[in-house]
Amino acid sequence: MTATRIEGKAVAAEVIEKVKAATADLAAKTGVTPGIAVVIVGEDPASQVYVRSKGRMAEECGFKSVTHRLDASTSDTDLLALVGTLNADASIHGILVQLPLPGHIDEGKVIQAIAPEKDVDGFHFINVGKLGTGELDSAFVPCTPAGSMLLIERALGKRDLSGLNAVVIGRSNIVGKPMANLLLAANATVTIAHSRTRDLPALARTADILVAAVGRPRMVTADFVKPGACVIDVGINRIPAPEKGEGATRLVGDVDFDACVEVAGSITPVPGGVGPMTIAMLMANTLAGACRAAGAQPPVL
Ligand code: GUN
Repeated sequence: MTATRIEGKAVAAEVIEKVKAATADLAAKTGVTPGIAVVIVGEDPASQVYVRSKGRMAEECGFKSVTHRLDASTSDTDLLALVGTLNADASIHGILVQLPLPGHIDEGKVIQAIAPEKDVDGFHFINVGKLGTGELDSAFVPCTPAGSMLLIERALGKRDLSGLNAVVIGRSNIVGKPMANLLLAANATVTIAHSRTRDLPALARTADILVAAVGRPRMVTADFVKPGACVIDVGINRIPAPEKGEGATRLVGDVDFDACVEVAGSITPVPGGVGPMTIAMLMANTLAGACRAAGAQPPVL
């Protein structure tokens, strides 16, 4: 059997179209335009690329978009002051401080300083707690697991995962834990596996839904996959690609796609799977923040 490829790029484009339409509708009905502020500290090249694409996408959606580029030597105090200003700015509905921050800045302190109702990353304790207690209507859910969840719903053709076993490999606060909570909220039976798990392949083979979020290139091999399972690959790993020339690299996921596609029922590719969903969900979260601020209903995605 060859699995269906889950086309994240196409689903992300659909989400963006919904966000654009709902943004125009919100502006027409309430006069509110969603506003997003992205803060980047320092010159990390990968972060610069991400931040530029977030700004471009926000503009495409019809948002107000501001990017604050701060010097790598910026103090905690100055960064916290900027967050305070953005918290108080009624034209801003989403604040994202790009991570990682330079080593001298306390990341946790900065994240917890963002107003929870503008925390479009979903990293604030209030949003983590709302997700953990099932208060999804007023929470911000972290973008990568939220996007992965949408791909699972599309692949399986349902939102209620009752009776299905889900295994999430990886226990990070940004992906693994929120992913597990989302699956649980959708009635799946959820196991979180990690580097200390015994006989991971056997556990993974119990999964009707297998999510890999570990950051280890092609770690999930065919023997991890239950025939017909839905496999979601959150990994983005850059590996050497000598076949493309000296010093060349390419992106691979945490899943050995070529092997697992022969066993799974549906599977996300890398690139073009979960990746494009992350930025689309950031736009959806920002729109949701603006809708809540205006007393309007965010669109169902
Ligand atoms: N750096 C890499 N991914 C992310 C993300 O999702 N949010 C933020 N704020 N920084 C990141």
